[in-house]
Amino acid sequence: MPKEKPELSDAMRTKMSGKLPVKNSIKGTKFTIAISSAKGGVGKSTFATNLALALNKVGCKVGILDADIYGPSIPKMLGINEKPKSDGQKLDPIVKYNIQCMSIGFLTDQQTPMIWRGPMVTSAIRTFTQKVNWKDLDFIIIDMPPGTGDTQLTFSQEIKMDGAIIVSTPQEVALLDVIRGIRMFDKLGVKILGLIDNMSYFNGDDGKKYNIFGDGGVKRTAEEFKKEFLGEIPINPEVGKSGDLGKPIVEESPNHEISKIYLDFANKIKSIYF
Ligand SMILES: Nc1ncnc2c1ncn2[C@@H]1O[C@H](COP(=O)(O)OP(=O)(O)O)[C@@H](O)[C@H]1O
Ligand SMILES: [Mg+2]
Repeated sequence: MPKEKPELSDAMRTKMSGKLPVKNSIKGTKFTIAISSAKGGVGKSTFATNLALALNKVGCKVGILDADIYGPSIPKMLGINEKPKSDGQKLDPIVKYNIQCMSIGFLTDQQTPMIWRGPMVTSAIRTFTQKVNWKDLDFIIIDMPPGTGDTQLTFSQEIKMDGAIIVSTPQEVALLDVIRGIRMFDKLGVKILGLIDNMSYFNGDDGKKYNIFGDGGVKRTAEEFKKEFLGEIPINPEVGKSGDLGKPIVEESPNHEISKIYLDFANKIKSIYF
C-alpha cells in the first residue's frame, strides 16, 4: 500500500522544491486517473463510469469527478437526481453504486445550456478538486471533456495526475484527434496508461465480426507512439441502453461479455498502482 504523504503548505513546498509548487493528489484520494478523448461521442463517459464500477468490484474505493463542465453526463449515466449536501464549506459527493460522484450537473439545471468562460471552468474544477469531501479513495476517475483545453490544462497544472487513458473509436478522423491527445499529455508530463478502442466492432447474429468504423487504427496509433494498447470494446446496444437508464452495464449485468472486458481493464489498472 502506498504511504500517505504528510500535508505541506504551498509556501513550504515551493521553498523545498526551489521552483514550482509540488503538485498534490486531490485530498482524500490516492490516485487520479483521467479518461480522455480528443473527440466527443466516442464513449468516454461510458468508459469512465463502467471502469469506476469495475474497479470497485475488484476491491478499490472509487470516485468519479465529472469534469465535462459543458456537457456533464455522469448524473444521467448513474441515474442521480439529488443535489449534494454542503456543510457551508465543502460539498459531500453523492454516493451511487458505492461510487462517490461529483458533477456540475448536480448543481445546475441540465436542460439549460451553461455559458462558461475559461476562468469559470477553472474555478469549477478547483471547487471539485478542493471543496469536495472525497473520502478514502484509492482512485478518482476524471471524466474529461473532449479536446485539449482549459480543463485538461488546469488539472495537469494543479493536481498530481497519476495517469491518463485515451478512448477512441477506430475512424481515421478520430485517430487524428487521438494523436493530438497523446501529444498534449506527453507535453503536460502526464503518463498515458494506454489507448482504448471503443465501439471497435460488432458481433453479428450470424457469428461474424463486423468492423463498422475501420480496423486496428487505434492499436496502430498506440504502436506508432509507443503507448500501451489496452484493448477493444465491441459495439453492443446493451451498453447504450443501460447507460441511458442510469445503471451502467457493469452494474446491471456483471457477467455480460462487456462487463468482463471492463473487469479485466480494472484488474490491469489496479495492478499498476497496488
Ligand atoms: N461499446 C459501446 N457500444 C454501444 N454503444 C456505446 C458504446 N460505448 C458508448 N456507447 C454509446 O455512445 C454514446 C456516446 O457515449 P458517451 O460515453 O456519452 O461519449 P463521450 O463521453 O465520449 O461523449 C452513448 O449513447 C453511449 O451509450
Ligand atoms: Mg461524455
